[in-house]
Amino acid sequence: MGQFIEWSDALSVGIDEIDNQHKQLVGLVNDMHEAIQTRQSADVVRDVLAQLAEYTRVHFAAEEGLMRIIDYPGYEAHRAEHQELIRGVTELQQKVDAGKSTIGFELMHFLKSWLTDHIMWSDQQYVECFIDVGAKAEIKQKSWAGRLRDRLPI
Ligand SMILES: [Fe+2]
Ligand SMILES: [Fe+2]
Repeated sequence: MGQFIEWSDALSVGIDEIDNQHKQLVGLVNDMHEAIQTRQSADVVRDVLAQLAEYTRVHFAAEEGLMRIIDYPGYEAHRAEHQELIRGVTELQQKVDAGKSTIGFELMHFLKSWLTDHIMWSDQQYVECFIDVGAKAEIKQKSWAGRLRDRLPI
């Protein structure tokens, strides 16, 4: 059986460090789908959702930090979109916590497009800008953010 979200080139931004973080997020949405399909308890589902919310914040902070370093012109709009996505997932957590919502087919599709639309439309837009400042080679290194910071004349 295939995964709920299959990783593909369409999701890749071509920068390993960021692709790896996106793969983690895709993995967490897939874990949640599996938890629901295999009828895990509400606690298990809540736990995976909490992990997804937490890792989303980590990933968004990493992207935003990098955008600030390179003075990305789309920073404000991108950050606003991140905040909207966090609001969406936080609302979902609150509904599930309050017992108002069980996570079914519809909510899983919300999470799928919540993640993949942002990666395919908004994240793809910063790639060219990162590469322009020579980020790609640096980002491929483990400590890419620090290395990039060192290179920039501040
Ligand atoms: Fe992203
Ligand atoms: Fe993003």
